[in-house]
Amino acid sequence: MFYDARERNHGLPADPLKSLIVPRPIGWISTIDPQGRVNLAPYSFYNGVSEFPPMVYFAITGKYGDTPTKHSQMNAEATGEFVVNMVTDELKEAMNVTTTMVPYGVDEMRLAGLTPAPSRLVKPPRVAESPVALECKYWRTLEMPVDPGRPDMQAYVVFGQVVGIHIDDRVIKDGRVDVAAFKPVARLGYSEYTTVNAVWRMRRPDDPR
Ligand SMILES: Cc1cc2nc3c(=O)[nH]c(=O)nc-3n(C[C@H](O)[C@H](O)[C@H](O)COP(=O)(O)O)c2cc1C
Repeated sequence: MFYDARERNHGLPADPLKSLIVPRPIGWISTIDPQGRVNLAPYSFYNGVSEFPPMVYFAITGKYGDTPTKHSQMNAEATGEFVVNMVTDELKEAMNVTTTMVPYGVDEMRLAGLTPAPSRLVKPPRVAESPVALECKYWRTLEMPVDPGRPDMQAYVVFGQVVGIHIDDRVIKDGRVDVAAFKPVARLGYSEYTTVNAVWRMRRPDDPR
């Protein structure tokens, strides 16, 4: 099949778009508001974009309940900091709790029964139960185009520089991060997810090793 993405005339019962950009890593974003209240929420429009310095982004789609945009964006912009925590198979249920739309100022980390651990270089706490956390300094926000007639689907991309990295020593084996040991969870379309279980290696054809 082919369909015009601008018309969204796919004829399917549900929009397939998010099933076609998969698997998406989940940035589990912890922030604090100007009063110091903790916020935690998952974002699968999340990725790394460069290495020197390491930069990441997470993207907001859609309007929100009690605030002009989602709390993670508001806090990152207001305080200049955020932390990206890794969602693992063990933490998937807790992650799902933290997507709940709650009033501004409600601490989803506590709501999900998770433990805040102090960060080193930024103020928002990281999730202690998560084996990987990236401490980030907010860089800038890009406002994305919005379909005419869909002002409810405002979209922003929030970029940050990774300044501090936590790795649980238990997932480092022979000097390498053993991804299969912590089983990252990724988002698919609809309400579907996947877990990284199988890892294999493939070198570039011009790799001299
Ligand atoms: C796995 C998962 C991935 C999500 N990814 C996004 C995303 O990329 N962008 C977005 O705007 N909302 C996303 N959401 C929804 C937000 O988590 C939800 O709107 C949340 O309440 C936002 O919280 P905040 O206002 O505290 O930032 C996702 C939800 C789940 C469960």
